[in-house]
Amino acid sequence: MKIVLLGYMASGKSLIGKKLSTILDYKFIDLDNYIEDKEGKSISKIFLEEGEIYFRRVEHSCLKEILKTKENIVLSLGGGTPCYFDNMKIISEANSVNSIFLNVTIPEIASRLQSETSTRPIVSHIKNKEDLLEFIGKHLFERSKFYRQADLIIDGNQEPDLITETIILNLF
Ligand code: S3P
Repeated sequence: MKIVLLGYMASGKSLIGKKLSTILDYKFIDLDNYIEDKEGKSISKIFLEEGEIYFRRVEHSCLKEILKTKENIVLSLGGGTPCYFDNMKIISEANSVNSIFLNVTIPEIASRLQSETSTRPIVSHIKNKEDLLEFIGKHLFERSKFYRQADLIIDGNQEPDLITETIILNLF
């Protein structure tokens, strides 16, 4: 089985992904880390030096490559992955995939992101909390139609262990 976690930045995809992979003894792949290893530089540097369009192309091809694996995996996507090319269709149509949307509220995302905006290229231009809340509100609204195509939608505001347990109960 391939468990694919998706959701906005700071929705807990990597944290929950690691927990799931440990409990299930599945291989864990973080798409951002996979891209960084492949390109030999950080996501921020790829955005800065090559631009977002280049990043989205690499993201798309890495996603396709990973989904071909026959292994049991937990894959944590980047926040934008489901929203570019036909990525969400590819995920939905791949064999033995269960996609899960970690749905976190706007204020919770904003407070998690506030201290880390400088390391995240999508929000690095935002200077204060009010602007961050407004940006996330609009951006999440645009992205929700992709996220909501997931097989399962989980309340991502809960404790990480509870989220992990809920996912396992839903899948097995
Ligand atoms: C992005 C989210 C990031 C990373 C890139 C773009 C986005 O991943 O892929 O900076 O467009 O939302 P995380 O969701 O893991 O932060």
